[in-house]
Amino acid sequence: MNTESDKDRFLKEFGDDYGYPKAPKNIDEIRATEFKRLDGTVYLDHAGASLYSELQMEAILKDLTTNVYGNPHSQTDSSLATSNIVGEARQQVLNFCNASPWEYKCIFTSGATAALKLVGETFPWSSQSSFMYTMENHNSVLGIREYALSQGAAAIAVDIEEAAHDSGSTNPASSHKVLQHQMQRRSEARVVDEELIGDAYNLFAFPSECNFSGVRFNLDLVKVIKQDSERILEGSSYCKGCWMVLIDAAKGSATEPPDLSKYKADFVVISFYKLFGYPTGLGALIVRNEAAKLLKKTYFSGGTVAASIADIDFVKQREGAEELFEDGTLSFLSIASIHHGFKILNTLTISAISRHTASLATYVRSMLSSLTYENGDSICTLYGVPKSKLLCKEMGPIVSFNLTRPDGSWFGYREVEKLASLSGIQLRTGCFCNPGACAKYLRLSHGDLLSNIEAGHICWDDNDILHGKPTGAVRVSFGYMSTFEEARKFLNFIERSFVLSLSHSPLRTKYIHLPTEGFERAPSRYYLRSITVYPIKSCAGFKVDSWPLSSTGLLYDREWLLKSMSGEILTQKKIPEMCYISTLIDLNLGILFVESPRCKEKLQISLNSDLFMSARDGMDLHVDRYEVQGYDNEVNMWFSNAVGRPCTLLRGSGSTCYFCLNSKRGVGMCRDVKTRLNFVNEAQFLLITEESVSDLNNRLYSNLPRDSHGPPIQVNSMRFRPNLVISGGEPYAEDGWGILRIGNNNFTSLGGCNRCQMINLIPQGGEVRKANEPLATLAAYRRTKGKILFGILLRYEDGNSVGQDTNSWLQVGQEVYPDAD
Ligand SMILES: Cc1ncc(COP(=O)(O)O)c(C=O)c1O
Repeated sequence: MNTESDKDRFLKEFGDDYGYPKAPKNIDEIRATEFKRLDGTVYLDHAGASLYSELQMEAILKDLTTNVYGNPHSQTDSSLATSNIVGEARQQVLNFCNASPWEYKCIFTSGATAALKLVGETFPWSSQSSFMYTMENHNSVLGIREYALSQGAAAIAVDIEEAAHDSGSTNPASSHKVLQHQMQRRSEARVVDEELIGDAYNLFAFPSECNFSGVRFNLDLVKVIKQDSERILEGSSYCKGCWMVLIDAAKGSATEPPDLSKYKADFVVISFYKLFGYPTGLGALIVRNEAAKLLKKTYFSGGTVAASIADIDFVKQREGAEELFEDGTLSFLSIASIHHGFKILNTLTISAISRHTASLATYVRSMLSSLTYENGDSICTLYGVPKSKLLCKEMGPIVSFNLTRPDGSWFGYREVEKLASLSGIQLRTGCFCNPGACAKYLRLSHGDLLSNIEAGHICWDDNDILHGKPTGAVRVSFGYMSTFEEARKFLNFIERSFVLSLSHSPLRTKYIHLPTEGFERAPSRYYLRSITVYPIKSCAGFKVDSWPLSSTGLLYDREWLLKSMSGEILTQKKIPEMCYISTLIDLNLGILFVESPRCKEKLQISLNSDLFMSARDGMDLHVDRYEVQGYDNEVNMWFSNAVGRPCTLLRGSGSTCYFCLNSKRGVGMCRDVKTRLNFVNEAQFLLITEESVSDLNNRLYSNLPRDSHGPPIQVNSMRFRPNLVISGGEPYAEDGWGILRIGNNNFTSLGGCNRCQMINLIPQGGEVRKANEPLATLAAYRRTKGKILFGILLRYEDGNSVGQDTNSWLQVGQEVYPDAD
């Protein structure tokens, strides 16, 4: 596609809004001078975190290195300098939301979440109160529910419906409808006493922009809830009492901060990294003075106390809202940094930022919605945008969607994310901490959600499709420095990977026959070329000529693992340098030898399981339960040095299977559920063939740009961490194998092995470099049902005995007899 003409067309429609034509620097100049580090990156996760400009950071560095800022609670000059700068920062925050300093206060917090927690913690809840919130809300807002419910209040989620075009009514209440979900309450139903209810304080919370879909809420809601609650809540008993309104502007304020001179909310929360990338860990609660007086602060601390006596129950809290609610010492250096961020927003102007980002989101939405299959069906389901409002610029700069195949089945969002990352595109997937919006837009019923949870699905995991439905979505979001080129690259990626790629089914692609070096292909004779054992999960393995089989695969394979002090299992995905920890087992000596370039001594671990080991303990991994034993301090210290962080070595004795999300056998299945497994991800064995590796290398070679001067990328079969490498036959013949015999041992194929970025790690001179290949090339022709397959997973079929068994050995050179499924 011709990017130039695309851009011309885009500019024809959006030229007045895109690129800051009236600002001192236009978007191309901003990118060239302030975001040089983004070269080659397409960053589309501004709803997650926006990016700081390089000039902004230079200015902050200059500020901090030329001024002396002391603790604001002292009385020194440096303390005064801090107090002044903090005071100015508060004023800037209030100005940002057009809030009068006589009416509102700015309380600094450690983020929007901390500001929300503060409201929840100090709100005057009673058993007569209600906490009402829109379905579209971040978990950090939903968490307020815990304070409300625990103090006997009711909690109710609502959907807001707005009449499309109100027929000239000046009363905003008549254009809003509040549809209530079921009431939640922990204690007994309250006694309805009209007088008491009249005194109750209720809280209504909504986001100015939904961080799942980009839907912007009409801020007239503030007035509607505060002044017309009886009517809008249609006389329900929850409408009584005084209503306070909280706006979560953490996402929305990056392009449209609430105007508090017009919409007099009681509480507004913001977060600075969402506005201009830096600093993180700093947010603010903007609170109306009248509302601040109602909050009940329990804790006191340095900073918030006027007087206290250590050994009797006496405390006098400070009076001003900022002093009362800002516990401890403020994050004053971060606060000193924010005016450098505001300077950018003020120079560009928020309205120009809003138009710039809206032009990109509107363009992407309209391009995505125009993608159709031959039968006219849409490829892309957009969330939160009614068809009639597709080109509506009133949405925030978020595009949230899922993609479907021609047969109507969904592409998993993890697949989109993985492929995007291979194309240098950074976007976000999942439910974005907004479970209500996710359920609403994806039409997930309580039944769907509960059965997903029962099936083991949690936030952050890889279960993107469950029971045929997506569990989340793909989100791209734009920031003030986003460009048309980024939007276009993203659209090209979607077209290339999800529209055009469907015209040729990946696994049926013909293999490439380029001359292969050095050996003649014997058409149907297969033999075992190499055996590799990996005793410690994610560390290097060692090749052997022959090796015993056990009931869990190759004897001792993945019998050990390293666990961080926080309980995380260490793998090369997080610590690529683990590939430098080499292992070797001497069966005669009964010793596992381990070496690391970071440790002088070679470590020797006895295979006799009773030596130096702690009592047995239980551990869960990959939905299986393992019995594990630990080692003494010396061993743990050795590994901590080897991986450069504190960790412990654990030895397992095989899993006890108790559960699997995806127990159906098939191509790309997740985990063998029928056998005992060591600490493997999916199955006892991984098998690849030399022919498939060589076909892949031919493709990598032929993909090489003609003008490339570097050496062609070639991968060694060990890059795939196989246990068994087979030689002979045609490339990818292994895809069709059902069972196979190696020597006298029988194995069952469990299907293809789903590949991740780990095969792109290149150890080089003690460091590990991350590349795009070979996964990017594999993705182009080995993608099926959301997985990028290479090699097959095997189960050993008659491994009932644990330990060495001379009848059950594998030997390099043994003939392999595959039998098609
Ligand atoms: C709408 C919304 N509210 C609240 C938060 C939490 O903000 P913070 O990370 O500052 O705690 C986020 C962050 O993603 C958000 O998008």
